[in-house]
Amino acid sequence: MTSPPSHLWLNALLQALQFVQSAWLEALYALGITDDSHGAPAWPFASRIAGENLVIDVSLARQFAWMLAAIAFAVACLLIALLWRRAWRWLALAAIGALLVAPWPSPSLWLTAAVPTSFHSSPTGFTVQSIARGSRVYAAQCAACHGADGRGEGPLAATLDRWPPTMASALLSRRADGELFWHVLYGMRREQGVTMPGFAGRLSDREIWAALDYMRVLSASAGMAAGGSWPVPIALPSLTVKCADGPARQVAAWRGRQRVRVVAVDATHPPPFEDPRFLTLLIRDGNVLASRQQGQEQEQGQPVRAVRTVTSSGKAAQVTPLFGARADCIADSPEAWQVFAQIAGASPGSLAGTEWLADRDGWLRALAPAGRRGWADGGLMCTTSTSAPDDATANGRNGPDPLSTTLRRMDDDPVRFVKGGFVH
Ligand code: HEC
Repeated sequence: MTSPPSHLWLNALLQALQFVQSAWLEALYALGITDDSHGAPAWPFASRIAGENLVIDVSLARQFAWMLAAIAFAVACLLIALLWRRAWRWLALAAIGALLVAPWPSPSLWLTAAVPTSFHSSPTGFTVQSIARGSRVYAAQCAACHGADGRGEGPLAATLDRWPPTMASALLSRRADGELFWHVLYGMRREQGVTMPGFAGRLSDREIWAALDYMRVLSASAGMAAGGSWPVPIALPSLTVKCADGPARQVAAWRGRQRVRVVAVDATHPPPFEDPRFLTLLIRDGNVLASRQQGQEQEQGQPVRAVRTVTSSGKAAQVTPLFGARADCIADSPEAWQVFAQIAGASPGSLAGTEWLADRDGWLRALAPAGRRGWADGGLMCTTSTSAPDDATANGRNGPDPLSTTLRRMDDDPVRFVKGGFVH
């Protein structure tokens, strides 16, 4: 997929429209003109600006931008005329002229139906706990139609008037979060009648947001099954991390500061060494984690001989003179193993040895599946860049090591995620 050159200004336009509409909503709420709906200010209008249409039709977006510019120019002229009290005739003429020559694309093209929760954002923080809760809701309420794998082929799907959409697509990133929420709450209807039932009264708001979190993970795993990549970048799920030398903290606190490498470890795949290029987060199978927490601290099968030293906080850390300390920040969430297995499109039993990389903004970007050639295959999972890794790296001579190349490509091609917009 190559982005048209307009993707930067289009994303900026989308972001500005989102910002202005949200600020407008906040102002209406502060003035008491609109009320609450499901825990956040309710959008009181039947329509909103359809950023998603502007992205599809660049010439419409261009006309829309010119219309906004003409309106802004006209307003500026009138303000100057009012304050300056001179040349007001010329200024009024300029304002009228700008409005006359501006294109006025039909509002039916750039407006779309809105719901009270259109501008709501998910309150869950995309934690592994929320994703795990969502997976239970999904299995019980949604899988019959949407399919356990999220590809829209559940046992009930063929009996419906409309086939459920596959999650191996960018669908969830195209729609406003608050509208997805509303659709699950109250269902969807088209000309042929109700296409999806609503769950109001059966599921709580929290359960619906959790189910949507889980659907994002399903989207990654369905994409892996369909084409070996993630349809859109997926955020690094948040979880509690415990490091040997510090208090427990949330992964979300690392966002915006450091790259994160996630490594699935077990007895035969010991923790890797710390690496200054990123923070390393270890995940373990929930059962193993539980037994470790019961005080069985001894690890078996360490292939590298290590000496136990004591860190400043008095806890033991394994230090190998040649390589430094082994990573010791571990996910304190039994659900993490299952969630990361799904994101990797792997079975939980064969996950150990898998590595993921998240960029500084907290997007998971790269994957090195267990049993493959580490990062030698590149590993970037969602990118629009078409350049292949350098030859020197590909054949392992002269160039930087494969992991450095992956990191460089990841940094060179940041995610510019805007709902409904372009990803890179
Ligand atoms: C009876 C079958 C059925 C069940 C049960 C069902 N869905 Fe759907 N779902 C559909 C169909 C069909 C569509 C496509 C509707 C359309 O586009 O008009 C859909 C669409 C969706 C969409 C896309 C919405 C959009 O804005 O395009 C989401 C998200 C979704 N379902 C989530 C869920 C969740 C979460 C559950 C469980 C809590 C669930 N569905 C249960 C049939 C079902």
